[in-house]
Amino acid sequence: MAPKEKARGTEALLTLDFNNLTDDALGEGRGIGAGELSSLEGALASAARDFNARRKKGLLPFADLPYDPDLPKACRRLASSARRKYDDVVVLGIGGSALGANAVLAALRPLNHNTLPAARRGWPRLFVADNIDPEGFAAIMDGLDLSRTLFNVISKSGTTAETMSQFMIVHELLGKALGPKAAGDHILITTDPEKGVLRRLVRERGFQSLPIPPGVGGRFSVLTAVGLAPLALAGVNIEELLAGARLAQDDFAAAPLSNKALLFAGLNFHMATRRNRPGLVMMPYADGLARVADWFGQLWNESLGKALHLDGSPAGTGQTAIKAVGVTDQHSQLQLYMEGPQDKTVCFLGVEGFRKRVPIPRAFGDQAELAYLGGGELGGLLNFERLGTAMALAESGRPNLSLLCPRISSAGLGYLMQTLMVATVVSGTLYQVDPLDQPGVELGKRFTYGLMGRQGFGDMAERYRGGLRADGRYIVR
Ligand code: PA5
Repeated sequence: MAPKEKARGTEALLTLDFNNLTDDALGEGRGIGAGELSSLEGALASAARDFNARRKKGLLPFADLPYDPDLPKACRRLASSARRKYDDVVVLGIGGSALGANAVLAALRPLNHNTLPAARRGWPRLFVADNIDPEGFAAIMDGLDLSRTLFNVISKSGTTAETMSQFMIVHELLGKALGPKAAGDHILITTDPEKGVLRRLVRERGFQSLPIPPGVGGRFSVLTAVGLAPLALAGVNIEELLAGARLAQDDFAAAPLSNKALLFAGLNFHMATRRNRPGLVMMPYADGLARVADWFGQLWNESLGKALHLDGSPAGTGQTAIKAVGVTDQHSQLQLYMEGPQDKTVCFLGVEGFRKRVPIPRAFGDQAELAYLGGGELGGLLNFERLGTAMALAESGRPNLSLLCPRISSAGLGYLMQTLMVATVVSGTLYQVDPLDQPGVELGKRFTYGLMGRQGFGDMAERYRGGLRADGRYIVR
């Protein structure tokens, strides 16, 4: 494998550059040596075989989503009719039910989609209400005309307290404003096709609904109706998004050992486990990709942070994904990455060409400190800052790699996201953990149920109170 990997036929969508992760760039024993790269190939080949075998058995249905011809058609039909009826679409969802749509919306619609009617070109505004802060939720609700709003309630389980409480609030508001019958036209439920309270409500009350395939967990669900429906409703080209994802999946099947997903997984596994780099900073140098870092954070952290190996032995694995945005965070986080603990790898997410050109005028040409900027462009400056930062890190022995898109496009984003999802599952194999579950988030939910008085969880409320120190010794007011 050459350091600057070129996968057959896909240079146009994504390039992985890991020059700055090699011992050549960083110094002996600080990155990955040529011998280690060859040894890694064996583990990666086996992880690729494992992935393909599980996919064949139907255990990785997220990998087949890009090939489904029916869902995008259904979402497109929904979007065409909704465009006339609604000015606003509000997603009520959290975690995997929100982050994918948020990431794609920011990347593929103009960044001022919600604020500038001309940027929307007749598509509805899209809000993703992924928190229950009463002030944040009220701020979204206050700006809506309910008679022109569609609420897309997204919850696979139907038991997520945050989403369901939002739904209960919205349902009541709609009923009061429009009457119970008309209110139904403003609710679209995306949930499990068979199970759960939301599906039951769909059956009993006749709400419009879309299914989430049973084997696809939240953080792998951006290409199900969870992501595709709201994105189509906001005017995103979901067909091209899927086409890019398909290409990424095809590339994985065709050329595993020079594959970007496999290499991304293998290199980060090496840095985390052999070079003691438990942190992975995902640093897009494009505002449009900033939310991809949020989406990736959930994908990587929730999938790989596990207490147990597959055989039940203690694991405590994972690599903490940290979000940073270039250039903004060069002025806040970079000092730490340059000189602080040697515990992170930085992954730059770069765009070679921007969709907008903003030239910098040749003003103040007589001022030497400013003259060099005149005649350039903001996009050029941004990219030189990315390149300069990558080089500065490498020169200081700080490992970094880059995922580069020629520009932000629907197909390119689909390729990138599918690549990162595949890489996450492959990483699960390397760490020997289940990347598809999240048992660690359950205990906190059970305490919340107890504190909120949910039937059957009284013991959790007791346990909570039992865990509190009565003397308040460590509380400072
Ligand atoms: O990745 C996951 O599985 C989680 O982040 C879930 O998506 C999140 O907890 C929301 O769950 P649900 O869709 O069941 O409401």
